[in-house]
Amino acid sequence: MRDALGRIQSVLLIGGSSEIGLAIVRGLPRIDGASVCLAGPDRPEMEQIATALGTEGFGAVRVLDFDACAPTDPKGFVANAFATEHDVVIVATGYLGDQATASQDPDMALRLIDINFRGLVPALVEIGQRLKTQGHGTLVVMSTVAGERPRVANYTYGAAKAGLDAFTRGLAASIDHAGVQVLVVRPGFVRTRMTAHLAPVPFSTSPDKVAEAVTAALGGASKTIWVPGILRWVMRLLRALPESIFRRLPA
Ligand SMILES: NC(=O)c1ccc[n+]([C@@H]2O[C@H](COP(=O)([O-])OP(=O)(O)OC[C@H]3O[C@@H](n4cnc5c(N)ncnc54)[C@H](OP(=O)(O)O)[C@@H]3O)[C@@H](O)[C@H]2O)c1
Repeated sequence: MRDALGRIQSVLLIGGSSEIGLAIVRGLPRIDGASVCLAGPDRPEMEQIATALGTEGFGAVRVLDFDACAPTDPKGFVANAFATEHDVVIVATGYLGDQATASQDPDMALRLIDINFRGLVPALVEIGQRLKTQGHGTLVVMSTVAGERPRVANYTYGAAKAGLDAFTRGLAASIDHAGVQVLVVRPGFVRTRMTAHLAPVPFSTSPDKVAEAVTAALGGASKTIWVPGILRWVMRLLRALPESIFRRLPA
């Protein structure tokens, strides 16, 4: 449980190598020796990250296998991840992929849906129950503004994220009376390896700015945050545009 100063003792990061996820983990107020559990498909990469976190004042760092394309035994996976209680659980799994390929290749389209939505649902169901039983903690789920209105450039990714966003908001409504905070994070363009091949767009931001926004919202009343915050209003405007105008906007 977070201490009297609001410092966390334990955090679970699903998407254990995510640049944004790790920036959030590193930015959280924490006690010395706070424990971390990293879950993802690339164990060697997460073990390197675990070693680095160990030199930064974190305590025990565990690494668990989790592949959203093959989510076997979600109950066992989450039970293992919750061998200790967690004050913060971050779901930062994601795959932008390539829309041009996904538009022609059903397997690639399904892969995008699996990694960004379907493969996360079983774990989220179990995590929701665990947090409810704990009676405390914050679940942070990485959504995106791309889920708010589909665009030709990334509509499969956007559709998957819209599903994840809606599912998470429903989950929030079902458990937030139990002392649990559920935070949906909708960043715009964040400069990470996921977007390294793309030209930055207006309101681009950094993983550290996302981390700052999450930390600021921790334990408060916020349910959904946009990063940067101005995107809340930009997206409200974009959602209201007629489709014929929206489609003419630059990609
Ligand atoms: N960067 C942006 O502009 C941006 C904007 C809005 C929202 N987001 C969201 O923020 C989150 C973090 O993104 P990021 O920028 O930090 O990208 P990132 O560093 O590429 O992180 C993505 C994470 O997803 C994991 N992953 C990929 N395929 C997986 C699979 N089959 N099963 C399980 N995990 C898998 C990756 O693991 P491996 O390293 O092992 O592949 C990695 O840990 C994602 O949900 C993303 O959609 C990003």
